[in-house]
Amino acid sequence: MTSSFRINNYDDYRKAWQKSVADPEGFWESVADTFTWRKKWDKVLEWDFRKPDVKWFINGKLNITENCLDRHLSANGDTTAIIWESNDPAEPSQHISYALLHQQVCCFAQALRGMGVKKGDRVCIYMGMIPQLPVALLACARIGAIHSVIFGGFSARSIADRVQDAQAGYVITCDGAFRGAKDIALKSLVDEALVTCPSVKKVIVCKRTHTPVSMIGGRDVWWDDLLSEINKDEAVKVPAEEMDAEDPLFILYTSGSTGKPKGVVHTCGGYMVYTTYSFVNVFQYNPGDIFFCTADIGWITGHTYIVYGTLCAGASVLMFEGIPTWPDAGRMWDIVDKHKVNVLYTAPTAIRSLMAYGTAPLQGKDLSSLKVLGTVGEPINEEAWHWYDEHIGMGRCPITDTWWQTETGGIMIANIAGITPSQPGYATLPLPGVQPVIVDEKGTVQEGNEVSGNLCIRFPWPSIIRTTYGDHERCRSAYFAAYDNMYFTGDGCYRDEKGFYRITGRVDDVLNVSGHRIGTAEVENAINSHTGVLESAVVGYPHDIKGQGIYAYVIVDAHTDTSDENCKNINATVAGIIGPIARPDVIQFVKGLPKTRSGKIMRRILRKIAEGETKNLGDTTTLLDPLVVDDIISGRQLP
Ligand code: PRX
Repeated sequence: MTSSFRINNYDDYRKAWQKSVADPEGFWESVADTFTWRKKWDKVLEWDFRKPDVKWFINGKLNITENCLDRHLSANGDTTAIIWESNDPAEPSQHISYALLHQQVCCFAQALRGMGVKKGDRVCIYMGMIPQLPVALLACARIGAIHSVIFGGFSARSIADRVQDAQAGYVITCDGAFRGAKDIALKSLVDEALVTCPSVKKVIVCKRTHTPVSMIGGRDVWWDDLLSEINKDEAVKVPAEEMDAEDPLFILYTSGSTGKPKGVVHTCGGYMVYTTYSFVNVFQYNPGDIFFCTADIGWITGHTYIVYGTLCAGASVLMFEGIPTWPDAGRMWDIVDKHKVNVLYTAPTAIRSLMAYGTAPLQGKDLSSLKVLGTVGEPINEEAWHWYDEHIGMGRCPITDTWWQTETGGIMIANIAGITPSQPGYATLPLPGVQPVIVDEKGTVQEGNEVSGNLCIRFPWPSIIRTTYGDHERCRSAYFAAYDNMYFTGDGCYRDEKGFYRITGRVDDVLNVSGHRIGTAEVENAINSHTGVLESAVVGYPHDIKGQGIYAYVIVDAHTDTSDENCKNINATVAGIIGPIARPDVIQFVKGLPKTRSGKIMRRILRKIAEGETKNLGDTTTLLDPLVVDDIISGRQLP
């Protein structure tokens, strides 16, 4: 595929960034020109952050799957699009060419059409990391249905919340999913969820684990049965649905500072352009390279850098069903060696957990194919950065630390591998098209270097969030209301003397546990629904492997015991309501919470205590009852 927008040296980067600021429309138009459009746009950009209303490539018509698949067929149909590595090292891996993936997507798209799925319908996808998962996403995109992937680690309640919010008519799932030694019964969780989801008309079930499942007559159908009725030769001839650049492509739910996850909406044109642009440039991807992204497709990283950006670029992407530490801590390195991976994109939490096993699992693994390493999802601590550099990259692979979010669609601040300088712990410089600003609490822009504050972006980029599904006001209030005429990221940030950005973590009530975003309010709501719990407050604390751990202060009524067993029960309630990823690491039963006279919980104090600080707690004189603090300190639990 043509990459006339490729950045090849520092000067290219500098010029591209300057052009993207001086003439954003001209800049993005020249990138967009390299894609396949049914009809080109009339105007590049219209925007108003105060509403917010952002439109890119106005009246442009396209189908993103023609860019992910069809356009590669004539020259690169035999190129591997997806390498799939099973959870079980003994199961053969699969190499799916662009031609085969195209055929599979066309067939499944026809199957969905045959079932009555139409443009604009919402389809929830709850599957393990098997090749049918990207096929399901792409088939939805092919017919203009809006997919909403739900991470396989979420509970039945979380599935139900998302299905209801999206008013989905269809669900695609599996009998079960393999993850390490576990076998997770996905279909039975879907069944439990759907009891409260009357919008769902059909459920498609793909067989993977052969776990027995209940199949409801008239509602549930097997993936293979559906496909057996499709004629492959005919299916590949059916044209893809023509989409407007601003038609929604997908919804992806993510946690914010309130209790209810938000359905982040991305649209077809801008998302395609920005994700491909960022993929090719940040990773310096060359045709033929094997790109291994360890993220789950249930998160934005998998959407963008396993499915859309990667396939639009004609890349060969490796997807892995299992977990890095199973059957042993050498599994990731076995995969890198086996498939001669050139670019490895993973999360700091994975690096830290593998680092904890030392270098023995690396023995005998040939990692010499690696050229570029990437990290995403949370700040990377220097120790993990150096371990990654020395033991995985052997000191010869640039590490790109990529900062971005579900809402940004693609990588925003990152060093361009091998081209712009890296610095441990720093995402460094903005990509072309990205104009970061640091503001103080009042919204005053902090000019110059060596400043810190809240990170905002002052101009739209093509893959910016367009709305939160079904509730546009929520999108405005969460991202565009805090600071006038700016997108607020929710992250704190420091710009050093060289102008490099260091992301310091969330400044709102959102935790980042093993790279998973979890709202403290969500966890509190779940804990509060446990019998006997009167109130709770949840904060994060530094955790060696997870980055942040979850520390919960819980008040129970006089009849409820404060035993370890009840802690486990509370954990089980949280796992049942949100999913195992949100289970508190520490629960401390307390008699009261530090509150101001207006009833606001002083989380700053709770955070300090959770971090082990007992003396410098700041001003506690405004507290309604300062004595509760002493009580909490004396009962502090060791993580
Ligand atoms: O706090 C930032 C952190 O992850 C948040 C976004 O989470 P999510 O929407 O789930 O997307 C994760 C994958 C893109 C951000 O607000 N974050 C992400 N990448 C980094 C990071 N923090 C520091 N450095 C990063 N490279």
